Amino acid sequence: MLQSHNPVDASWNGSPIVLVGLMGVGKSTVGRRLANRLRVPFVDADTAIEQAAGMSIPEIFEHYGEPYFRDGERRVIARLVDGRPKVIATGGGAFINDETRALILEQATAIWLNASPEVLAERVKRRDTRPLLRGKDPLKVLRELSAVRNPIYSLAPIHVSSKRGPHEATVNAILKAIGR
Ligand code: S3P
Repeated sequence: MLQSHNPVDASWNGSPIVLVGLMGVGKSTVGRRLANRLRVPFVDADTAIEQAAGMSIPEIFEHYGEPYFRDGERRVIARLVDGRPKVIATGGGAFINDETRALILEQATAIWLNASPEVLAERVKRRDTRPLLRGKDPLKVLRELSAVRNPIYSLAPIHVSSKRGPHEATVNAILKAIGR
């Protein structure tokens, strides 16, 4: 069901673990469970952005636009990546931003959770609050985003692919990939 694409399983050095990958791959669910297993705090970057802005992500996009959201996202992630052991789930676009990606690659352990657009399209049906998908065909958008973003996500040193099935299997694959 799950594969780790890492040629060599590396031991985790205790730096913040940052989960990256497309919408619907399960970064928040997997991240929360991973943090529990590692007994470290879990932080959802999207939630932290909403708290900092005092409004929801759809509201930020609607009132201020995507560039404003991306700037807030960059600042919030820079604050969260503070050298302490924790698991951070990022929004799907965070690692695409050059500055955010450089910070994560330098100061954290980045893990790309990868799934096919078909699996992602099924999973995003559970929540209709994603501005990039509203009023669009999710499979089409996710195919386009995969083509553009997967080469960038692949810059993360650890790749874990998530197929259909329980998120716990993805958590186990990550633990194995980081030598836990
Ligand atoms: C986005 C993904 C979302 C959220 C925003 C933009 C993206 O997070 O940050 O809607 O650009 O892929 P999730 O990946 O948690 O859905």
